[in-house]
Amino acid sequence: MCGIIGYVGGRQATPILISGLRRLEYRGYDSAGVSVIDPSGVTGDGRARVVRCRGKLAALEDKLTKEPAPGTTGMGHTRWATHGRPSDENSHPHRAGSITVIHNGIIENHLALRAELAASGAHFSSETDTEIFAHLVERAVQSGTTDLTTAVRRSLAKVRGSFAFVVMSDKEPGTLVAAKNSSPLVVGLGDGENYVASDVTAILSETRRVIFVDEGEMVTVTRQGVQITDFDGKPRVREPKTITWSAVQAEKGGYKHYMLKEIHEQPRAVADTLVGRVDLEHDDVLLDGIDLDPERIKRIVFIACGTSYHASLVGEFLVESLARIPVEVDLASEFRYRDPILGRGDLVVAVSQSGETLDTMEAIREAKKKGAQILAISNVVESSIPRLSDHAFYTHAGPEIGVASTKAFTTQLIATVLLAIYLGRRTGALPRERARELLAELLQLPNKMRDVVESGAQLQVLARRYGHSHGFLFLGRGAQYPIALEGALKLKELSYIHAEGYAAGEMKHGPIALIDETLPVVVLAPRGPNYDKVVSNLAEVRARQGKVLAVATKGDAEIGGHADDVILVPDSALELQPVLTVLPLQLLAYYVADFKGTDIDQPRNLAKSVTVE
Ligand code: M6R
Repeated sequence: MCGIIGYVGGRQATPILISGLRRLEYRGYDSAGVSVIDPSGVTGDGRARVVRCRGKLAALEDKLTKEPAPGTTGMGHTRWATHGRPSDENSHPHRAGSITVIHNGIIENHLALRAELAASGAHFSSETDTEIFAHLVERAVQSGTTDLTTAVRRSLAKVRGSFAFVVMSDKEPGTLVAAKNSSPLVVGLGDGENYVASDVTAILSETRRVIFVDEGEMVTVTRQGVQITDFDGKPRVREPKTITWSAVQAEKGGYKHYMLKEIHEQPRAVADTLVGRVDLEHDDVLLDGIDLDPERIKRIVFIACGTSYHASLVGEFLVESLARIPVEVDLASEFRYRDPILGRGDLVVAVSQSGETLDTMEAIREAKKKGAQILAISNVVESSIPRLSDHAFYTHAGPEIGVASTKAFTTQLIATVLLAIYLGRRTGALPRERARELLAELLQLPNKMRDVVESGAQLQVLARRYGHSHGFLFLGRGAQYPIALEGALKLKELSYIHAEGYAAGEMKHGPIALIDETLPVVVLAPRGPNYDKVVSNLAEVRARQGKVLAVATKGDAEIGGHADDVILVPDSALELQPVLTVLPLQLLAYYVADFKGTDIDQPRNLAKSVTVE
């Protein structure tokens, strides 16, 4: 997830770009850069000047004081690294000949395109997928297509994946061409000047008249106006909208809190985790060059903290059932205090959103000392944990700003599903047909998730009904047990209401004593082999006047007879159900906290990344 902005007009572009990037920095801050050209030809040599560097925007501002970029047409970028580590060379904008490009998204077929371009003489100066697009446009220009818009259109036909591109040419210095597929893009309309950006926030101080670009649309932006077409060049007529949000609201995409925005971003985030990793041709998973030798792996040990620990518990269920490799899961903060028995045959999977959690880092050091190989599952490219590990799997969820983890969790779940399928195909435990079914279901998951995150109104009503309770119990079995733990953690950390997550079968061994008519019990009861047993647990709660909120599968006609309230999620394979059942629990915790008026994005006493032991 990167931030992009472009400007064409009569004023100096750089200050406008920098002010826009400041508002986009929440989208990523691995590096920043601008490229500016002067269409009048008064300054510069007729070539766009690029100033870019690794690090936050402040580093770029500093660099610009020494290397100014004058001119009235330009583009700016703030990067969240996906392909290529954070470095000066991998910072955007990227150049090829007379072409300059910035990009937000992932070019799925970048390896094939890079090889093709290299074979015909292209030289690359970065490890990014974006630079490939600059080369494609440059080639199209050289092949006689003089018009930048046509060159971009021809190049778009060659790339697959998600993108918002902005392209500039030294030969058409008063023009920007932008295109969108799956990544956000908005056009801002001014007086004798126009803008493009990935988010309205970036341009709100300049204009409130905007056009939200649709999927599969291209825009040619000049001082005189904007022209929108589809990728075939057919004109599209779009009515501008006037934005009434405040700048702060706009940063949150119109949502009241970052957390709510991030809950709604989950379908997109999961789709991004899957990009380039599902190989439908071979019913297999591609792991970005991670080379795991299943022959060597005798056991897998997950280590993590908090929400990442809950994802690891689901991972245990998945890897054991799909790959038939023994798995253990340990709290990173406990791991090294019991002198764990580890060796060459162990693969330690360290799960960490931030990649900076000190407990997890120390556990990795301990595991390395004992000869285990380490795979990191992280959301932050080149953070400490992936760097400390032998292999890194990045979830590509984009920056998570709310302290309570949501999209990081669901994308970690996807990472563990992919790992389990990858290993299962190699150990032979997972038949090809089953892998095919699971991969097909994975690709449908973002749409099903969208269904659930849009059901916020029901959760809001339930939050009002139960939000005054002194405590909550969450119950689940099998892969739903960690979801019960996660539901309880979300509620605790956001609303400060005491909540316990329990394995449903354990209730009768103690917590059943808590149940009376004042205790809401959230029971995870999706369709599956544990269903009947979970329904018996529901009956035990209700027999003691407990209030039951059941999370069940759409089409379940029976559950209503056993619960006070029912929340339905779409049907899916057993292995993927946790990704759907956790969503209403996130929304419940959010709305209870909102109802109580707590500080949702920064709950008391917590930090986003815990770098102390
Ligand atoms: O960055 P990490 O995934 O290593 O963080 C681990 C925990 O601190 C984290 O998951 C925490 O429990 C969540 N923010 C809770 O929502």
